[in-house]
Amino acid sequence: MPISFSASSSAADRIAADLLAVPVGIAPAAAPKGRPARGRGKATPTPERWLGPGADVVDDALGGGLIAFLDEAGFEGRLGEAIAVPTNGNLRAKAAIIVGIGDPAELTGDTLRRAGAAVARRASKATSLATTLAAAADTSGLDAAEAAQAVTEGLALGAYQFLEYKPKSTPSKLAKVTLLGSASAGVKAALARAEAITDAVCWARDLVNTPSQDKSPADVADDTRALLRGKGVTVQVFDVAQMRQKKMGGVLGVGQGSAQTPRFLKLTYAPAGARGKQLAFVGKGVVFDSGGLSLKPAGGMETMKCDMSGAAAVIASMSALKALGVKQKVTGYVPLVENMPSGTAIRPGDILRHRNGKTVEVLNTDAEGRLILADALTLASDEKPAAIVDLATLTGACVVALGDKIAGVMGNDEAWSEQVLDAAGRVGERMWPLPLPADYRRGLDSPIADLKNVGPREGGALTAGLFLQEFVDGAPWVHLDIAGPAFITGDDGHNSKGGTGFGVRTLLELASTFTPPPTNSAKR
Ligand code: BES
Ligand code: MN
Ligand code: ZN
Repeated sequence: MPISFSASSSAADRIAADLLAVPVGIAPAAAPKGRPARGRGKATPTPERWLGPGADVVDDALGGGLIAFLDEAGFEGRLGEAIAVPTNGNLRAKAAIIVGIGDPAELTGDTLRRAGAAVARRASKATSLATTLAAAADTSGLDAAEAAQAVTEGLALGAYQFLEYKPKSTPSKLAKVTLLGSASAGVKAALARAEAITDAVCWARDLVNTPSQDKSPADVADDTRALLRGKGVTVQVFDVAQMRQKKMGGVLGVGQGSAQTPRFLKLTYAPAGARGKQLAFVGKGVVFDSGGLSLKPAGGMETMKCDMSGAAAVIASMSALKALGVKQKVTGYVPLVENMPSGTAIRPGDILRHRNGKTVEVLNTDAEGRLILADALTLASDEKPAAIVDLATLTGACVVALGDKIAGVMGNDEAWSEQVLDAAGRVGERMWPLPLPADYRRGLDSPIADLKNVGPREGGALTAGLFLQEFVDGAPWVHLDIAGPAFITGDDGHNSKGGTGFGVRTLLELASTFTPPPTNSAKR
């Protein structure tokens, strides 16, 4: 159930809620190791604590015993720590939690999201929560609206649960959150933005977490129509016959082994008064990746319901453009297939003919993402966009290179890559540039077709990027390999185990701040 957020300038001791959450940090001039603890002169040195807004109220409820309690409990104020504190019935709030924020002078959007998520995970039994967390940012470089947005995002995303298939579970009760501090128009607008953004992220997570049995390409098309109704987006769904007409040999080839026929989504957001060319979002939508006839080992398949995370990010982000007041035209291109082995599947050695006329020798049917993206990128380029960004759980090699928290960034245009990296940096989605070395293109040479779909094992993320580049005609383009951060094995800050909705926040930031890259900055 989505949480409803509001802002209030009430004092922490005046607010009635099930739970009051208050930040405590580690003072900037934190004691070097060995310095005696503040307060009770305990034997174990504890760094000096920074008591955030509202901590005095909790301290009063405890008759001045907050520090002693925290000492006793070993609570230091590190980022993400959270502890319930007794209030002896002395607070209007029924209970209190203290959340660690680390050094208050170093507070960023990301640390506030982390702290917010820690609160949300602790607050699942409360119906209403009030928190002074955003007001902790008064000592940092963040303004009140940015802080409120980050805290709201952390709370909404940290509270995320996927319980669709666990009928006996008890979902979090948290329904109402009040951010204490500034309640200016700017802060209220920030809450609304955060809610639109996190709704989109959670929708993407739900779709990624849904088992593949319940998200065939046709199912995803239906879910997309339902999601985007009333959101200012036109949804076109191409079936097999229409894809044949559009010569999408890659999507059709990968899709031909599955009983679930492929689809292609074209999503158009063109708000009244929008001028200029569109920004194109492309997302890999492999609803399940078995590897095809180049079958994956059992372990490698366990998480392959996540192979449509790029598609989920694109579809979800389209749903929030109107709410965010985006003025830029945006078009989403989403190929949806299931990659299965069967009597009708493509075989290693088969040759596909793509939409742009290029032929590809398929030597490994498990390198399927690039085959469907090829057609999608060509369709996007045909429509002469101002810029293209694609998101794809494309290679295990990128996970080896950057781990599971950082996406790889490749592209053909310096300025556009910078714009994407900057947007990601502002929203706290971690990305890192990787090269597209022209001489590595040789690794994709085929004796009998224009190219083959696999290169050498070494540098596998880069040859995948080089493959995609063959299908982008002219437009500034960035490729995000999100194979690592799209799906994680344990909770981490505002991300919970499973699908993360990675990319949604960057896409929305990009759409909100887009400036067309100068046309001649392409080529490198
Ligand atoms: N969907 C996988 C990539 C992947 C791996 C995503 C791990 C998320 C986590 C992709 O289709 C794939 O199988 N790639 C192959 C490419 C290889 C055959 C060239 C890979 O990475 O092994
Ligand atoms: Mn694959
Ligand atoms: Zn795949």
